[in-house]
Amino acid sequence: MLPIYNQKSRIKIVVAVIALLIGAATVVYTNLLVQRVSDREQEQIKLYAKAQKFIISSEVDSNTNFVFEEIINANTTIPIILTDGQNVVSAKNMNLPRGLSTADSVALMQRELAQMKLLHAPILVELGAGARNYIFYKDSQLLRQLRTYPLVQIVVIGCLAIIAYFAFSSSRRAEQNRVWVGLAKETAHQLGTPLSSLVGWQAYLRESERFRDEPIIEELGKDIRRLEIITERFSNIGSVPVLKDENLLQTTRNAIEYLQSRVSKKVVFSIESDLPTDTPARLNVPLFDWVIENICKNAVDAMQGRGAITLHLRRVRPRRTWYRRGAPPRQVAVDITDTGSGIPKNKFGNVFMPGFTTKKRGWGLGLALAKRIIENYHEGKLFVKWSEVGRGTTFRVVLNQ
Ligand SMILES: Nc1ncnc2c1ncn2[C@@H]1O[C@H](COP(=O)(O)OP(=O)(O)O)[C@@H](O)[C@H]1O
Ligand SMILES: [Mg+2]
Repeated sequence: MLPIYNQKSRIKIVVAVIALLIGAATVVYTNLLVQRVSDREQEQIKLYAKAQKFIISSEVDSNTNFVFEEIINANTTIPIILTDGQNVVSAKNMNLPRGLSTADSVALMQRELAQMKLLHAPILVELGAGARNYIFYKDSQLLRQLRTYPLVQIVVIGCLAIIAYFAFSSSRRAEQNRVWVGLAKETAHQLGTPLSSLVGWQAYLRESERFRDEPIIEELGKDIRRLEIITERFSNIGSVPVLKDENLLQTTRNAIEYLQSRVSKKVVFSIESDLPTDTPARLNVPLFDWVIENICKNAVDAMQGRGAITLHLRRVRPRRTWYRRGAPPRQVAVDITDTGSGIPKNKFGNVFMPGFTTKKRGWGLGLALAKRIIENYHEGKLFVKWSEVGRGTTFRVVLNQ
């Protein structure tokens, strides 16, 4: 396996860890700030209480004026309600909405007071002669905002990470598409010239006295047919392929017949079907053949040239998807089971990655291509349905009707 996949998941882990660290650091640091601002507000309130007491118990002079201006009026942030134990005496920084009726503002004030009682113990102001006032207060708006700030930041970091991830992966997918399509088109194009020349040579030989009856013409014809199939596949994958209602059983049979003639006789193919013989499926024959061929060739490799490959046609219930409106499409599946070496469970997804191979001379493109053909071009599904190491594997191809 190419190391790139290990590397990719390592990068993902590193990014996730960094995001977590940023999140944790924000929380810790903001908590520190919150603690400090909160301490300072407590100090401020104590000072405020002292100032109240000082003003009430002193004669009015320049000192009281100073205290009033610098301490009492200087608090423009911390909401305060002063009571005499029963009734509200005065309030500061409460930011009540404008235009409230008296009854409403009294009710609102009571609610605020109840809230404040829960938050902090009130500060007692002895007024002398047994009279007492209580100062209730709550956190300033700044402090309250500061408390919610880590949450806001974590949500923002999360959103950014999600957006970046989708932007990144969709641009990578678009790039991959261009490579696949461009390469396929180019291949089909390049094969075209020698192929038509070969067809010309074949016609020439058929006319000639010397070769007319030689088996070479027949063999040449087979190779030409083979090259035509390859060209057709590449040109289909390099353009928007046409899907038609094809007889699924017949198409599968043809594909298998062709394969059986080209692999060892020790591999036994068989087809089973739960479906009526005329069941159609929407597919592009050259591309579907290519998928069956890739999967079966892998099966032959996994069985080391000896064993059984069974294709089973069945109806499957489509999964409902939230993004597709209306009735879900009717679907059929072709299950391709071999008696080969099997795939370990943690590799079920990896086998479809381009470049993933366990073979000395493998390219690791067969299943990537097959998945692409089925999922992008046919809007179907291709996945490992079952596999056990040493027992065999089932690939499932799901097609729409
Ligand atoms: N039927 C199967 N049984 C066991 N392993 C399989 C089977 N099909 C695919 N694989 C595994 O998936 C890998 C990728 O397959 P593929 O994409 O066709 O590339 P390649 O055939 O070039 O290795 C194979 O190398 C093999 O390890
Ligand atoms: Mg292969």
